Amino acid sequence: MMELDKGKKGAAAKPGRRDEVVLPPQYEPEEQYAEYDPAVARRLAAYLAPHRRQLLIATVLALLAAGLGLAGPYIVRFAIDVGIGRRSLSAALAAAAGFTALNALAWRVRLWQVRMLIRVGQDIMYTIRVELFSHLQRLSMRFYDTHEVGRIISRMTSDVGVLEDFATWAIVQVASDVFVLVGILAVMFVMDWQLTLVTFTVLPPMAVGTFLWRAKARESYRAVRRAISRINASLAENINGVRVIQALSREDHNLRLFQGINRHNLQVNLHAGLLSAVYFPSVEFMNAVATAMVIWYGGYQALQGHLSQGALVAFLLYVSRFFQPVRDIAMRYNSLLATMASGERIFQLLDTEPEAQDKPEAFALPPVRGHVQFDHVSFWYEPGKPVLKDVCFEVQPGQTVALVGSTGAGKTSIVKLLGRFYDVSDGAIRVDGYDIRDVTLASLRKQIAIVLQENFLFSGSVMENIRYGRLEATDEEVIEAARLVGAHEFICRLPYGYHTQVQEGGAILSTGQKQLVAFARAVLANPRILILDEATANIDTETERLIQQALEKLLKGRTSFVIAHRLSTIVRSDLILVVERGQIVESGTHEELLAKRGRYYALYTLLYARQAAALPRP
Ligand code: UTP
Ligand code: MG
Repeated sequence: MMELDKGKKGAAAKPGRRDEVVLPPQYEPEEQYAEYDPAVARRLAAYLAPHRRQLLIATVLALLAAGLGLAGPYIVRFAIDVGIGRRSLSAALAAAAGFTALNALAWRVRLWQVRMLIRVGQDIMYTIRVELFSHLQRLSMRFYDTHEVGRIISRMTSDVGVLEDFATWAIVQVASDVFVLVGILAVMFVMDWQLTLVTFTVLPPMAVGTFLWRAKARESYRAVRRAISRINASLAENINGVRVIQALSREDHNLRLFQGINRHNLQVNLHAGLLSAVYFPSVEFMNAVATAMVIWYGGYQALQGHLSQGALVAFLLYVSRFFQPVRDIAMRYNSLLATMASGERIFQLLDTEPEAQDKPEAFALPPVRGHVQFDHVSFWYEPGKPVLKDVCFEVQPGQTVALVGSTGAGKTSIVKLLGRFYDVSDGAIRVDGYDIRDVTLASLRKQIAIVLQENFLFSGSVMENIRYGRLEATDEEVIEAARLVGAHEFICRLPYGYHTQVQEGGAILSTGQKQLVAFARAVLANPRILILDEATANIDTETERLIQQALEKLLKGRTSFVIAHRLSTIVRSDLILVVERGQIVESGTHEELLAKRGRYYALYTLLYARQAAALPRP
């Protein structure tokens, strides 16, 4: 039902894009890739700041290694001109030894530099992930209503990875590349400026080519990112929804959808591959042309006696080394774009303010008795579409309230507001006279327990799952809670009793058993206010009986809100609120409402008559 609703909303908000695959509107922002963005860069720099000493040292080391590399061809020149030219074996030997020593030193320096960068990079990733995680835990339900898990996870993983890569490797590498380029040019100019000028006549056409290519590459790169983001979204949805997919045998249908997305991914990647395939061999070719220039003009100079043979070889070596940093910088450009995009996404996430936040002057809610008042509460998820209109009611401490009404009426919304998962749009909710917006969230939620229809169990033992209600509870208290709700027996029958591992989502337990575990969790938390979204699923009569008994114990002595489907729960409650289209249309006890012969009576006869037949008449 909810999924259908959401689908409709998505389609209405953004109709008919011309792409083969229609995506929900929230994918759009992801597709806007930033150019170099100084704001993002500044914030990134803030993460680098604590490591600036290491980064500086790493850069110095990289420059040192690059400088050592630059000296190589000079030694070769010496070996040829002095060693071979003057037939001096000792000079040749010295050159060989010097060359080896130089490169050994460069190797050691690089090792040092790499180790340093790995450390810095991992530190930065660690910091950002912790920041993201703690932020995600604080974000409001509204955020999770509109953002898919797959995308959030990809921010935690790949986006953070991209940042790490750039923040550490790219900066140092580009610094060293630029140094090498300038260094080679300088050395060559000093050696023979005319030959240098002739050799690098290839540079202007290459610069123009690179410029044109970059524009294309940027487009293609965006398309690749977009395609990958679609694949991720589709994967996440299909894996999360695999039970529904199989139940409705939509495997083929979804496979076709995925094939479409995947084919698109293939095409854009082919295109991107093709672009690289054009550029990088072109750089190779330019390299060859420059080499040919050296051989032609340098050879001519050498024949004229203006250039030594050693210098000619050194020139060739320098030229061959010149194009590696060029290629590298061209690739780093993509990486810069990726970093800006990833940085923007991460910061956007970090900047999302949790909706329900503690006010600066918020105080801790003192232990409450459980008086709850909804005072002219109105609420909407999206402006202009009111979900709750002027809801007023009052509940005395210890009372049980049953919320009934047709689907989509606003029952869940009412209890979510009480838990302050959203803030009311108008009016106020008071607990023991305190407006819940004036107190801290933590102190409010400590006194409210919520048991949902779909009970989420975490990976861990049954014991740990119950203890989640109150982390400091002892094993005995956990077992006591399980006993109270009648879960003890079935837990003992599990392969390892309380230490049986339940997978994430609690797949090894039945719906009824999960509900009992959730009850035990709530009992352990011992809240003053309890919210229960009753499961409607068919449960075997034995578990049903257990749940009935458990409910009684659970509701006793606390203010309870039950979104009830069981007639027995409704009949026994102190107050029944009939919710229709966001309004409370009737309220009272079962007898009062039946006597009214209004909406409740209609619901009762329609929906509950069958259940009622199985019960003694009230
Ligand atoms: P509720 O979720 O409060 O309805 O949504 P309900 O009474 O509990 O319904 P059932 O019995 O569980 O099915 C009330 C209205 O708010 C909208 C829904 O479309 C519905 O019309 N809604 C709900 C949103 O717009 N956004 C949401 O995130 C949730
Ligand atoms: Mg509901």
